Amino acid sequence: MRGIVLAGGTGTRLHPVTRAVSKQLLPVYDKPMIYYPISVLMLAGIREILVITTPHDREQFERLLGDGAQWGVRIDYAVQPSPDGLAQAFLIGADHLAGGPAALVLGDNIFYGHGIGDTFTESVATVERDGGCTLFGYRVSDPERYGVAILDRDGTLVDIEEKPEKPRSNLAVTGLYLYDPDVVELAGRLQPSARGELEITDLNRVYLQRQQARLVDLGRGAAWLDTGTQDAMLEATQFVQVLQHRQGITIACLEEVAMRRGYITAEQALVLGEEMGKSGYADYLRRTAREFLEMGTLP
Ligand code: G1P
Repeated sequence: MRGIVLAGGTGTRLHPVTRAVSKQLLPVYDKPMIYYPISVLMLAGIREILVITTPHDREQFERLLGDGAQWGVRIDYAVQPSPDGLAQAFLIGADHLAGGPAALVLGDNIFYGHGIGDTFTESVATVERDGGCTLFGYRVSDPERYGVAILDRDGTLVDIEEKPEKPRSNLAVTGLYLYDPDVVELAGRLQPSARGELEITDLNRVYLQRQQARLVDLGRGAAWLDTGTQDAMLEATQFVQVLQHRQGITIACLEEVAMRRGYITAEQALVLGEEMGKSGYADYLRRTAREFLEMGTLP
């Protein structure tokens, strides 16, 4: 399965902050926001990643992420000329997907939780084996701001509504979506919604009609954080800070993810840490790579 990170959009809800800088490049505590969704793809075992940006932000993303070789993955770039909807990612990314299954992650979504990488990896295997699409649900206090999933008594997905005024459940559809190879053709048949966008929810509803949509509830032990407003950004930063301070870990340290998954060696990770300089992120990377070198394993 290949991956797409959608990092387009004008970020108007964060203006003036995002007038000059793409939202997905803003820091969430100690690293750029886009590190978090990239870590999700890498944890799911996806190593061919297309980053879709606005035309004028592309250069900065390339400067930050390069070609991905430093993390043992491949990163390519494409642009979305105007924000015409999340489902457009599959039309822009059609060549990248090369007729295979697809993972889409939104560039501003942060996922965290024990074992969440295994959940994603297993879900990738399910879509590769059985086809269809897999969505991930998360209970929120304000479902009206999201795509909302409705399950029946057996926990089977029966309906999805985009930002309903009166949500029929508290289960938000998060910004990670796994699809079989039909996704490009199905996205191509979508009509723009009332707000003029190719809606991901409409695409998911097509899979639902085909009885090929399933939902994995991330459960209350996981965190799915929003970055849609200044307050949400601050809360996400505080969440990452608290966990990192308490445990002495770094969330979404891409070099560490690459090292743990065997995409790069501990020696390579140490060199990257040594090149990075004096930040806390770099300190952690050096410490973790040395520990891996000495112990041959990591807790
Ligand atoms: C989009 C989707 C929505 C989903 C959300 C997740 O909304 O349309 O279904 O729940 O992403 O972040 P947007 O953030 O574009 O308003």
